[in-house]
Amino acid sequence: MKPPSVATLTRDEAAAELARLAREIAHHDRLYHQQDAPEISDADYDALRARNADIETRFPELRRADSPSLRVGAPASGGFAKRAHRAPMLSLANAFSDDEFTRFFATARRFLGTEQPFALVAEPKIDGLSISLTYEHGRLVAATTRGDGAVGEDVTANARVIATVPQALTPPFPEFIEIRGEIFMAKQDFLTLNAAEAQAGRREFANPRNAAAGSLRQLDARITAGRRLGLFAYALGEASETVADTHWHYLERLRQWGFSVNPYSEALAGESLAAVFQARISEHRGSLDYDIDGVVYKIDDLGLQRRLGFAGREPRWAIAWKFPAEQAMTVLRRIEIQVGRTGALTPVANLAPVNVGGVLVTRATLHNEEEITRLDLREGDTVRVERAGDVIPRVLGMVAELRPAAAAPFRFPDHCPVCGSAALRDPGEVVRRCTGGLICPAQRQERLAHFVSRGAFDIEGLGDKTLAELQAIGLMNRPADIFRLHRHEAELATREGWGEISASNLIRGIAARRSVPLARFIYALGIRRIGQNTAKLLARHYQTVTGWRDAMREATDPASEARAELDNILGIGPAIASELADFFGEPHNTTLLDDLLGEVSVVPEAPRAAGSALTGKTLVFTGTLTRMTRPEARARAEALGARVTESVTRKTDYVIVGEDAGSKARRAAELGITVLSEDDWLDIATDGAVP
Ligand code: IVH
Repeated sequence: MKPPSVATLTRDEAAAELARLAREIAHHDRLYHQQDAPEISDADYDALRARNADIETRFPELRRADSPSLRVGAPASGGFAKRAHRAPMLSLANAFSDDEFTRFFATARRFLGTEQPFALVAEPKIDGLSISLTYEHGRLVAATTRGDGAVGEDVTANARVIATVPQALTPPFPEFIEIRGEIFMAKQDFLTLNAAEAQAGRREFANPRNAAAGSLRQLDARITAGRRLGLFAYALGEASETVADTHWHYLERLRQWGFSVNPYSEALAGESLAAVFQARISEHRGSLDYDIDGVVYKIDDLGLQRRLGFAGREPRWAIAWKFPAEQAMTVLRRIEIQVGRTGALTPVANLAPVNVGGVLVTRATLHNEEEITRLDLREGDTVRVERAGDVIPRVLGMVAELRPAAAAPFRFPDHCPVCGSAALRDPGEVVRRCTGGLICPAQRQERLAHFVSRGAFDIEGLGDKTLAELQAIGLMNRPADIFRLHRHEAELATREGWGEISASNLIRGIAARRSVPLARFIYALGIRRIGQNTAKLLARHYQTVTGWRDAMREATDPASEARAELDNILGIGPAIASELADFFGEPHNTTLLDDLLGEVSVVPEAPRAAGSALTGKTLVFTGTLTRMTRPEARARAEALGARVTESVTRKTDYVIVGEDAGSKARRAAELGITVLSEDDWLDIATDGAVP
C-alpha cells in the first residue's frame, strides 16, 4: 500500500507517523547490524528512511530526539556497525618520479583521445585515515570509515565529537551528500598522547596515523573526545545534485559549508607546474604540524573526471606523487624462510629494530633467492633498508666494509622447512616451491587463512592460532571442514582456552558466512594469480558458480571454445587462463570445490547496471572509433553492465563497427549478429537504450 503523500498529512498524522517510523527503523537496524538477519530489502529500508526525511523536511519542528535521521545503525555487539558507502571509497595510483607522474597524465590523454594538457589541483597527501561524512538536509547523519571501500564501520558517534567535523552545513546545500576527507592527529598532539600513554603504562602508538585511527575507532566516544583529531575535506562521494563543475570550485564549496580544506591546496594551470609544487611542499614537509607523505594531483574538470572514471580501484584522474622513501641502516640478524599458500618459499629479513622515518622496522622482504644472491646478503651483514609509504620495507644492499669475518654465504634450502618435501624451482621461474601440496601444513594453513580472510569468506574468530589448533586436532583439513565444524561444537567447548561462549561465537560466525557472493568465492579458492580484481571480472562474466565451474572444466582443453572465451575476457589474458586451467585440471581441486559447494551457497553476481539495455550483453568493438577512444568506449560499456570481448563468437550480442573494420565485421554478418554503427553506439553510451 502506498503511503499518503507527505503534502496531505496533517500535523498530528505526521507526528504519529514519525513516531512509528522511528520505532520501525530502529527495529530493522537491530536486525541488520546486531543479528545479521534483516527482514526487509535494502530498497525498502531506504524507502522508510526517505519517508522519514521527507516528513521532517515538511515539519522540521516535529523531528524527534530519537529520529533515525540523527542516528545511523546500531553498534554491532562487540564492534562497530557496518555501513555501505553510496559511492565506493577508492584508493590512488602512486608515482615516485617525474617520469611516472608524466606518464599517468599521458595515459589519461590517450584515454580521452585529446592532446590538451590538464589543469590540476594539487593537495598535500595527508597521512591519516579517510572518512566519509553523510549529510541529509544539511545535517550530519553518518560518518563511516573506508573499510574495504564498499562497506566501512559506522563511527558516527565519534565523528560528532571532532571539532572540525561540521554537525550541520552552512546553506545552501544539496539534500544529500557524501563528503570525504582525512582524519589526522597533529604531531604535537601525538607526542602529548604518547607521553600520557607511557605514563599510564599503556602501549604507545607507532605514529600519528595509528594514533588517529585508534582514537577514532573507540567504542566509547568520550575517549575520542579527549583526543584532538583534525579533518581536512578533499573529495566528493555521491550527491543528490551537481555541486560544482571543477574540483577547485568544489573545495570552495566545502569551505563555505564549514569544512577545513588544506591551506596548501593550489590550482595549477598545467601539469608542467607540478614538479615545482612538489619540490616546494617537500621542503615544507618538516615544518607542517601534521604528517604528509606526498601530494595528490587531481584533474580539475569534474566532467573529465567523470569520463575518465576508474581502472579497478584507482581513478584515472588523480595520482599521488609520493615523497622519496626513507632509508636507514641496521643489522640483518637472520634470513627466515616462509612458506606461502601456493608453496612459494619466501625469504624474509629479520632485522635489528630500527627507526625508518618514524616507523619501527624489524622485518623486510627479500623477495626470492635470486635477490639474496644478487645483493650477496649474509646473516650478520649491516644493511640499508628503505620504507616507502605503507609498503613492506625492503633491503637495498649491504655494507661490505662492515661484514663480520665469520659471515658465510647464505644457502637457500632445497627442502621445505615446514614439511621437509623437496622444494623445486621450475626452469625460468625465480620462485622455489614446496612440492608437498596439501600434505604441507604451512600451505594448508595459508590456504585456509586466505579462505577466511577479509576479502574472501571474511570469517571472524578463525585467526592463525585457531586454524593451526583445529588442523592439529584433525578437525580442519580443507575449506569445507569449516562448515562442518558445528558438529564438533560440544567437543570444542571443552578444550582448554575455549569454553561454551567462544565455541558458540565461532560457530555462529561461520554460519553467518555460509552464503557468499561469487566474486568472493572465486577469490577464496586461492588460485595463483587470481586476486580480488580478477575474481570480480570472472564473476561478472560467468555470473553463477555452476556456470563458472562448468566453463572452467571445459576450458582445461586449450582448443575448446570455453578456453577461447576465457582468454578473451578483458583483463584476463592467457597467463591467468592457463593458471585456471591448471587448477581445474587437478582432480583434487575439483573434488575440493564440489565438497565446498555442498556446504555453502554462492550468490550469483548481479549484472552491473540493472535496467540498462546493455546489461548482461556481450559486445565487441572493431575498427577505429572517431569520437571516443577504445578504452573509454570499453569503460562506458562496462559501466552500463555489458561485457566487452575481443573476438566475435556465437555468444556476442552486438558488434560495434568503426572505420576500416575488417574480419570481425564480416564474421558478425556471417553469424547474424546485430551490427551497430559508431552513431548507434554514441546513442547507447549516452542514454543506455539500444536503437
Ligand atoms: S583523494 C578517489 N585527496 O590517500 C580518490 N586522498 O592513497 C580519493 N589522502 O584513501 C582520494 N590526502 O585516505 C585524496 N588530498 C587528498 C588526500 C587523500 C590523503 C588519502 C586517502 C586515500 C588515500 C589514497
